[in-house]
Amino acid sequence: MKIRSFLYLLFLPCLMLFSCSDVVVDVTDQGEPVLDGSYDYTAQKLPLGLSAASNFVVIDPINGFPVLIDNSTAGGVFTGGGGLPFEGDFNLIERFVKVTNAGASLGRVLFYDKKLSLNNTVSCASCHHQDKAFSDGLALSGGFEGRVTSRNSMAIINPITQNNLFWDSRSQSIKDLSLKPVQNHIEMGMEDIQFLEDKLQKINYYGELFEAAYGDSEITGDRISDALSQFIASITTADSKFDQRSRGEAVAFTELENMGMNIFFSSKAKCSSCHAGANFSAPDGIFDPYGGGSANGEDLRGTANIGLDLIPEDVGKENGSFKIPSLRNITLTAPYMHDGRFNTLEEVLNHYTTGIKANPNLDPKFMDDQGRVTGIKLSTLEKKAIIAFLGTLEDNTYTRDPKFSNPFLK
Ligand code: HEC
Ligand code: HEC
Repeated sequence: MKIRSFLYLLFLPCLMLFSCSDVVVDVTDQGEPVLDGSYDYTAQKLPLGLSAASNFVVIDPINGFPVLIDNSTAGGVFTGGGGLPFEGDFNLIERFVKVTNAGASLGRVLFYDKKLSLNNTVSCASCHHQDKAFSDGLALSGGFEGRVTSRNSMAIINPITQNNLFWDSRSQSIKDLSLKPVQNHIEMGMEDIQFLEDKLQKINYYGELFEAAYGDSEITGDRISDALSQFIASITTADSKFDQRSRGEAVAFTELENMGMNIFFSSKAKCSSCHAGANFSAPDGIFDPYGGGSANGEDLRGTANIGLDLIPEDVGKENGSFKIPSLRNITLTAPYMHDGRFNTLEEVLNHYTTGIKANPNLDPKFMDDQGRVTGIKLSTLEKKAIIAFLGTLEDNTYTRDPKFSNPFLK
């Protein structure tokens, strides 16, 4: 039951758009998947400084903030924000997804299989293309019947290391997705998972794949969800020029890239105060205002308001604050922002320098002491340099890795 909700959450972007039609037309024949490689999904190579070791999130019962706990402390005494020991019942959220090669291989087939949609036109991969770091190049993605998603499709960047998923950070980990109650998309109803189970049961290639992954050929919603989460958990990106340089490999940055890196990490540009750590995304420290919770008790869950609109149409997490997205592979994932409003990185940087709106919830990093909007002052050359540096975060190994590729040849 619990894991079923994972599927709903993942489908949410698209399912919200689909009218519940019971007409199933097999419009796309993808043929059968070809799984000839024996790929290792269990060796999840991560960038320096990142690990998937934090296996649990505990919601601190005292202040409500999520706290990361690793395997070594799980089962021991937990201390929460403020160092106070937890007492009584607390909400332990398991983050760890156990990845097996058979499970992730099944997940790969499910990820690319259009039969997972009601009329066989849309798979996860329709909106998450490997060559674009699993984003899709569109401002808003197409579901079927000409409808579009309300938000920009997201790249998939080391999801096992991320504590905040989706543009509004509504989910705390891939595993957590599977443990959350079904929300917002009640129209799908339970019948649909049953419907999917029955549908996959009739497809000849699944029996064997489920048996390899789970010991018998029974197809359940929980298994479908688990296999998809295993595949997603196996997707890691750690081979950009920046990573190679960090590991001391023989690559050199150009002068412009070096200059951009220095500006990116400077207190003047402030980029790295939000796009932080080895994923260049929201810092996750429990005492960091952009991580678990802020000094004034607001729970920001890795989001910020960057003044895109005076009055936001989409409020995101709340009041127009959105997930601080990873900048890894950012050169592959245009258009940008939660609604894909900017087509180029130049436009993004122009927003930071001159485009920021005086939204009442604007992040203080873009204001002076008097609360006046200052934006971030950058010269044309400095913007060029930052963009050159962002290019060093592109990883073309994972965008071509056959183990993440489409197993259907048609
Ligand atoms: C019709 C397009 C579409 C389809 C199909 C789709 N997605 Fe998405 N995906 C999106 C959009 C749009 C978002 C951002 C949604 C939001 O923030 O509300 C997203 C977000 C995500 C995220 C969060 C990434 C992050 O870093 O926060 C994951 C993981 C994901 N999708 C996986 C999947 C999987 C697995 C499937 C198939 C079961 C799937 N998606 C199907 C469009 C789609
Ligand atoms: C206050 C925190 C904060 C600061 C400072 C900040 N960003 Fe961002 N950045 C965000 C948030 C939040 C978003 C997503 C906003 C949205 O979509 O509504 C974002 C989006 C982006 C995007 C688009 C990402 C995507 O996937 O669409 C890029 C590129 C980017 N920022 C680069 C930078 C650079 C370069 C700097 C420094 C000049 C910077 N940011 C400073 C919080 C910040």
